[in-house]
Amino acid sequence: MAQVFDRSSNALARASLVLTGLIVIALGVGLDQLQRSPWVTRQGQRPDQPVPFSHKHHVEGLGLQCQYCHTSVEKSSYAGIPPTKTCINCHAQIWTNAELLKPVRESWATGASINWIKVHDLPDYVYFNHEIHVNKGIGCASCHGRVDQMPLMYQENTLQMEWCLNCHRNPAVNLRPTSEIYNMAWSGPSSDKPVWCSDTAKTAGANTYGPNGERTPTAQAVSCVTKDPSGEGPKLAMLQTEGAIKPGESKTSSDVPAMGMTLPVSYQKFTSQVDLGKYLTDKYHIRTANELSSCEVCHR
Ligand code: HEC
Ligand code: HEC
Ligand code: HEC
Ligand code: HEC
Ligand code: HEC
Repeated sequence: MAQVFDRSSNALARASLVLTGLIVIALGVGLDQLQRSPWVTRQGQRPDQPVPFSHKHHVEGLGLQCQYCHTSVEKSSYAGIPPTKTCINCHAQIWTNAELLKPVRESWATGASINWIKVHDLPDYVYFNHEIHVNKGIGCASCHGRVDQMPLMYQENTLQMEWCLNCHRNPAVNLRPTSEIYNMAWSGPSSDKPVWCSDTAKTAGANTYGPNGERTPTAQAVSCVTKDPSGEGPKLAMLQTEGAIKPGESKTSSDVPAMGMTLPVSYQKFTSQVDLGKYLTDKYHIRTANELSSCEVCHR
């Protein structure tokens, strides 16, 4: 009996099976990549804003602080976008006729706010909060990148779950003193750039939680400086100039109990991010990796 299929067609069938398999895998990988691609995550995109506002000019060029415009970042879940009034503070005098600023003048004249397009936008089922991150030592640049170098705003990171978890599993590597939150160029301590910290709350005999028992410690709980405070600390020097204590007098906190104020005198020196991270994890009461990765933290 003649064979219906010869050997070569058999091989063809096998080859086409393999090919189908490859196509299925490729599609899978493709979809997965798509899910992570900038097209989906919006990473790096610069949307067309009504006004081409430059952070580089206003932050690096003019030296404006982030809080000047994003006023609620330390005390609410939202950083907030500034009202037109904030721009008019200056632009009533500067660049008053510039075509670029027409939407700002119109907004001011009509009272209708400028329609800024959101650059970062988490899905509604994700809970996010600026206040806790900022008050627990995560700087703007750790999440938003070098905003001071951005002529037009874009999203530096994916903001996907993996990205959040990557830090929540080990926040210590990203912790910095709360006094450095707005420092775009912060790079952590090193042997030629040490950081000195002192637990002011302990010195004052108070606990590190807020004055009304809130869970978020205040920025003042730990005080860190980047200049060697040995000898006269900055606050000590201030007290001396005010005549409260004389230079050369004993400098431990127990010697000035009547002052009734916080006086950081015993500073600890840090030359590595690992050590500083451990110290701040403790002082800022950072939860464990397990606690911070549990679903309820971000999905409530
Ligand atoms: C002079 C006011 C001003 C200052 C100062 C300023 N910003 Fe902004 N910021 C804006 C305006 C206006 C927008 C909305 C337009 C845009 O996205 O560029 C914005 C947008 C942003 C966004 C994106 C918001 C979104 O839509 O997702 C981030 C992040 C941001 N700013 C961070 C910072 C940081 C960090 C600093 C300090 C280094 C800073 N800004 C300083 C005015 C300011
Ligand atoms: C503290 C004063 C100040 C504030 C507040 C301010 N600007 Fe400006 N802005 C300036 C100055 C000064 C320049 C000119 C900068 C230059 O030429 O280097 C400028 C330039 C601009 C320009 C021209 C393009 C550029 O970046 O050079 C635009 C557009 C602009 N500002 C928009 C805004 C908007 C929108 C706001 C409010 C969110 C705002 N500015 C708030 C001072 C300010
Ligand atoms: C832990 C990461 C993280 C840190 C730290 C952080 N941000 Fe954000 N920021 C985000 C995320 C995520 C969003 C998007 C929030 C959303 O869509 O609900 C956002 C949104 C914003 C927006 C848009 C308006 C808003 O409130 O949603 C501004 C402005 C902003 N951030 C400024 C800042 C400034 C200024 C700092 C530093 C003081 C800062 N952020 C620190 C992650 C961070
Ligand atoms: C660079 C580090 C870092 C990144 C990135 C980061 N977080 Fe956090 N997050 C922290 C730290 C530190 C805390 C405070 C932990 C504590 O208090 O124990 C925190 C706390 C939180 C909390 C707890 C708030 C509360 O009141 O209990 C939420 C919610 C949260 N983060 C959501 C997010 C989401 C969503 C993202 C991603 C869009 C994100 N975080 C990205 C470091 C980070
Ligand atoms: C630190 C914050 C954080 C924690 C903790 C977290 N998630 Fe998410 N999750 C996110 C963010 C942010 C997104 C949005 C991702 C995006 O926009 O692509 C997300 C999205 C999701 C989605 C939608 C599908 C997807 O992957 O985009 C599911 C399902 C989900 N999370 C389940 C969980 C479960 C289950 C846990 C606990 C094991 C968990 N998440 C813990 C931040 C978190």
